[in-house]
Amino acid sequence: MDQVATAQVPANAAAEQPATLVAWPLRWALRVVLTAHTLAVLVQAAFAGRFMSGDFEMLRAHFVNSQVVGALGLAETALAVVYWRPGGGRGWPALACLGVSIAVPLQIASGIERVIGVHVPLALAIFATSTLLTVWSWRSTFGQRRAAAAPETT
Ligand code: HEM
Repeated sequence: MDQVATAQVPANAAAEQPATLVAWPLRWALRVVLTAHTLAVLVQAAFAGRFMSGDFEMLRAHFVNSQVVGALGLAETALAVVYWRPGGGRGWPALACLGVSIAVPLQIASGIERVIGVHVPLALAIFATSTLLTVWSWRSTFGQRRAAAAPETT
């Protein structure tokens, strides 16, 4: 009888459990900050385009917005770390956000020093990473907690 009961339990029963979610304020905070960060980087490109067309006031706006990009990068990194631990979500976004947070000061320095050969490709790398993180944060699987460890069998 015991053997029959055991056989009826699917081998991947744990995988079929409904996913539990990271707390909603944390999910929404991370989602909103990631989205705002991507928009701020996009606005940076728009300011750059304007001042390269001769509107030199926009260089000031480009500088001021670089501080916004930096602040949002730090905020998303802090949130992504909490999302991972103790939040229970995936850990890789925290690493990706940390990479962005390290890249942005380099981006600001390369802008101030006018090292355009570094500045433009690094801007694209920051934008690509930020966009991927934002797309991830709007997917239906976003916010799922890591699978609980399988119970020990004796
Ligand atoms: C994460 C995005 C970006 C950040 C944080 C950033 C930051 C900066 C900063 C702080 C400066 C110096 C401003 C000043 O001296 O007052 C600068 C200059 C500049 N940036 Fe950016 N930037 C970003 C994206 C871009 C993009 C996408 C482009 C172009 C496609 C661009 C092109 C330039 C150029 C051409 C300069 C000025 C060079 C000069 O004065 O000769 N930047 N940037």
